[in-house]
Amino acid sequence: MTTSQAYLSDLFSLDGRVALVTGGSSGIGRAVAEALARAGARVVVVARREAELAKTVGELEALGARAAWVSADLGTRAGVRAAAKEAVGAFGEPDILVNSAGVNLRPPMGEVGEDVWDTTLAVNLEAPFLLGERFGPGMAERGFGRIIHISSQQAHRAFVQSGVYGVSKGGLESLARSQAEAWSPYGVTSNTLVPGFVMTPLNARLSSDPGRVAALAARTMVGRNGLAEDFAGAAVFLASRASAYVTGQSLFVDGGLSVH
Ligand SMILES: NC(=O)c1ccc[n+]([C@@H]2O[C@H](COP(=O)([O-])OP(=O)(O)OC[C@H]3O[C@@H](n4cnc5c(N)ncnc54)[C@H](OP(=O)(O)O)[C@@H]3O)[C@@H](O)[C@H]2O)c1
Repeated sequence: MTTSQAYLSDLFSLDGRVALVTGGSSGIGRAVAEALARAGARVVVVARREAELAKTVGELEALGARAAWVSADLGTRAGVRAAAKEAVGAFGEPDILVNSAGVNLRPPMGEVGEDVWDTTLAVNLEAPFLLGERFGPGMAERGFGRIIHISSQQAHRAFVQSGVYGVSKGGLESLARSQAEAWSPYGVTSNTLVPGFVMTPLNARLSSDPGRVAALAARTMVGRNGLAEDFAGAAVFLASRASAYVTGQSLFVDGGLSVH
């Protein structure tokens, strides 16, 4: 039997969908933005640095996708609201919301100042909450929506003394469950992708230490650390019709790190 493209399309195609990807200009968010675009979605990427955003959109357009960017600071409520408003101006209300923008400021717990707490919680948890409040009800009214958060193994266990970061990610997984409870009856799922250690700019400090990189790779089952591209398939799945009955879940994309 030959592969049925129609069958695959029915399950996974994002043709006609609009996706908003925060942090879509770098690392995991960049890879997810490309995956959703290649699966057919029109994609709006949101972050602060304009040059990275414009470069990403240029690369997506070169693949034949329709894409747009919005520069905004998701660390403030005003910034989140402005981002949402401008993003809708590109292709209309999103069917898919991916929250990948995140910061990891890393002081250990005893050295965390209120500024680190505020910034971490604002970008990693409050922005996803506010964007969910802005777009979730509309998705529910239209009868289809997909919310995908990027959390961390630190939602499940402490790791390399990064203090408040794990707090924000634990909250994010709870947020996904609350959103799932609210909107799943109306066709809107909310799930979380859980990375292990992924070689992106967020991890520049750890990634530049070959000994640490090798030790972390050895803790996985696959035998290597994550790459941003490893999130493409899981993101398309969670954004597509195929995942309609998967909601409130945390899907580990970590090479087996969390169960080793
Ligand atoms: N890499 C890992 O090992 C790992 C592990 C677990 C979880 N994660 C999570 O995965 C997500 C993506 O991380 P990554 O590794 O891909 O990091 P990354 O390459 O550093 O990308 C982070 C993205 O977030 C944006 N961003 C940061 N602060 C922002 C703000 N205040 N307003 C708007 N945009 C902001 C950045 O763009 P600008 O700087 O231009 O704003 C960038 O596009 C994060 O939520 C992270 O916590 C990563």
